[in-house]
Amino acid sequence: MQGVARNFFTLAIIYSLCGMALGLYMAISQDHGQMPTHAHTMVAGWLMSAVFAFFYHLFPAVGQKMLATIHFWLTAISGIGLLIGLYFLLAGNAAIEPLVGISSMGFYASMLLFAFVALPAVWKTA
Ligand code: HEM
Ligand code: HEM
Repeated sequence: MQGVARNFFTLAIIYSLCGMALGLYMAISQDHGQMPTHAHTMVAGWLMSAVFAFFYHLFPAVGQKMLATIHFWLTAISGIGLLIGLYFLLAGNAAIEPLVGISSMGFYASMLLFAFVALPAVWKTA
């Protein structure tokens, strides 16, 4: 694995370790107040980043495009902003809501960009 694929896989592993640690904390403390943070870290973080990693591994030519690098950084920055923001929002810091909103829109934009980058590659004939 190389380049964008390897970056996404590394990001995915970091999300899984952080998200599972939060899950363990919730289970041990019996305080499930951070459930949405845990759920999104695991699925929007670990699982989605892993899917992106394997996509770019399967389509190395797509992974070499500048748009793929932009896709990685937009996904990473908006995703981390979204999850850290959500953590503090659910911990009672209402002032952080704009960060959560902006990051959510950035995360959606990164998925749109991925559609633009990935769909032509999977529909290409021969
Ligand atoms: C160390 C391992 C894990 C622990 C201790 C853990 C713990 C928890 C806890 C305590 C909840 C809250 C349940 C509730 O309040 O109803 C939860 C929810 C959730 N977990 Fe985990 N979890 C772990 C791993 C994972 C993994 C690997 C994934 C996915 C790849 C995952 C995905 C989710 C999701 C999506 C929810 C929300 C479920 C719902 O909407 O009801 N968790 N987890
Ligand atoms: C633009 C980004 C996203 C936003 C703004 C968003 C927002 C939300 C909201 C408002 C809820 C309800 C939470 C609650 O009732 O406590 C939710 C739940 C959930 N979302 Fe997302 N979501 C996003 C992306 C995703 C993605 C990409 C996935 C999966 C890959 C996902 C998986 C889930 C799951 C499993 C739940 C149920 C667990 C929970 O209640 O926290 N979300 N999301």
